[in-house]
Amino acid sequence: MGGCWSSEPLIDDTFTADQWERLKSDYAPPIPPNPCDVWTQVRRPGTCDQAAALGQALFFEPALSHSGAISCASCHDPGDPDAVPKIDGWFADIRTPNNVSAADSGWTKRNSPSVINVSLKDKYAPATARGVFSWTGKFTRSGAVLRLAIDKALKTNDDAIAAVIHNNPIYLSQYIQLFGTPSPSCSTMPPSQCELIKNLELVFEVYMNKLVSVNSPFDLFIADLPSPLSESAKRGFGVFVGRGMCAECHGGKMFSDFTPHDTGVPQMGVNVFEDGGRADDHGGVAMDPADAGLFITPSLRNIAKTGPYMHDGAFTSLAEVIAFYRAGGVPSGYAGVRDARIQKGEMTDEDARDLEAFLNSLTGTPIPPELCRDVHPRNVCTIAGDANPGTVCGTACVDLQLDPKHCGSCDKQCATNEVCMGTCFPTAPMCSPPAQNCHGFCLDFQADPQNCGSCGHTCADPTPTCVTGTCR
Ligand code: HEC
Ligand code: HEC
Repeated sequence: MGGCWSSEPLIDDTFTADQWERLKSDYAPPIPPNPCDVWTQVRRPGTCDQAAALGQALFFEPALSHSGAISCASCHDPGDPDAVPKIDGWFADIRTPNNVSAADSGWTKRNSPSVINVSLKDKYAPATARGVFSWTGKFTRSGAVLRLAIDKALKTNDDAIAAVIHNNPIYLSQYIQLFGTPSPSCSTMPPSQCELIKNLELVFEVYMNKLVSVNSPFDLFIADLPSPLSESAKRGFGVFVGRGMCAECHGGKMFSDFTPHDTGVPQMGVNVFEDGGRADDHGGVAMDPADAGLFITPSLRNIAKTGPYMHDGAFTSLAEVIAFYRAGGVPSGYAGVRDARIQKGEMTDEDARDLEAFLNSLTGTPIPPELCRDVHPRNVCTIAGDANPGTVCGTACVDLQLDPKHCGSCDKQCATNEVCMGTCFPTAPMCSPPAQNCHGFCLDFQADPQNCGSCGHTCADPTPTCVTGTCR
């Protein structure tokens, strides 16, 4: 052993130089694909950002749900980039209690996975995977999960989704620019052929492809870049690939083998019921009893931020997850037959703490604020002959800059002796001479080139200055 090896004393105890080289290549940080690839393959290049913007607007659109109360962002929480201090969102469900995620009415079957890094899953999953999206890998593309969201989360149907696009002039014009005129309804065709839904799958996918978070402390460390990775986390990596046996399933740069396994997670917690995993989701069509209890190994990127954990949110902390694996799983309360590798191992208490530090070091950079905002156009409208953008207040389209009934915001009404100029100003203030009242302001008509001689009389070239009430 030699060379740079000696600068990594903790790894040194655990691995040979050859092993270490191998690990550095297996765990080399992933290279995010171009989020627009999926778009430019099928559509005009140059319109990808427009497609992503429509996807982003719809991601926050509560009108997509049956009751109009929830959106994708309810269960895949983007945080609040405008809060002080800023709240980073990791696009998972952080509502409590949320063992399983609350749907539009009732509950979904499972806890919401994060939709960050879906493009990396797409790129790095083996070509042989039958599908890696959702807990059971039922879907081959992230956009295709829209089907599940419509049926089980938003509790709506394709026609209602189509109506949202048809009824909002801004969505409709964005849609037409990208895809041409949508067909009026989906009800005449099988869901899989509804063109509008297929197109929306694509815009959701383009938007979600932009949600990439890498460069975690561990990524930097393994790439030999300056990193704040703690000694404990470095030891934890040793436990992860060694005694802990975690890398058996969570190995590689995505910390997943993208393969279904039965880890025997206890099905317990608020609103949780028995879940057959892959067997349930492929149920009906060629149901294979061997699929019972199988869930796809989730990626562990950003894992510290996306609890609660497991398909049913059974564990609220990483310490609980580690305790579960250390104990060799639980004796019962799950479907199918537990994988033989989930068994009482040789991890010490210190190993467990180090492993937790390692898992905590897998958090990448937060998603840029502009991708976490509701860019929803639902409140924007146009008023004929008014250059200011209009705002929808109830059923009316108003100019918040000028409307004394909705001044600055929908619910702010000016008093009778006030005018609206973005905020309410008094109409007739007592002005001390030589100042006089002009739309609520006290101005000197003798010297003000905007109001020269009288309120609103503006001096212009060739007489731009105001001298004793006359433009000169
Ligand atoms: C009521 C909560 C809820 C809402 C609303 C919701 N989801 Fe989900 N989402 C989930 C749950 C739960 C899963 C896991 C489903 C499963 O495995 O059966 C999931 C899974 C996903 C996945 C798979 C991620 C992966 O890596 O496997 C994607 C992508 C996704 N949702 C996108 C969306 C989009 C887009 C919308 C809006 C159209 C949406 N979701 C609305 C709860 C929700
Ligand atoms: C036999 C394969 C296998 C092994 C070994 C394994 N895991 Fe897992 N892991 C999975 C699967 C599959 C799931 C999802 C299970 C579920 O939700 O029911 C999972 C879930 C997790 C989760 C929760 C992820 C989330 O998004 O909720 C964490 C954290 C985790 N494993 C960490 C570890 C650690 C740490 C080890 C080693 C001590 C380990 N795993 C060993 C297959 C494995």
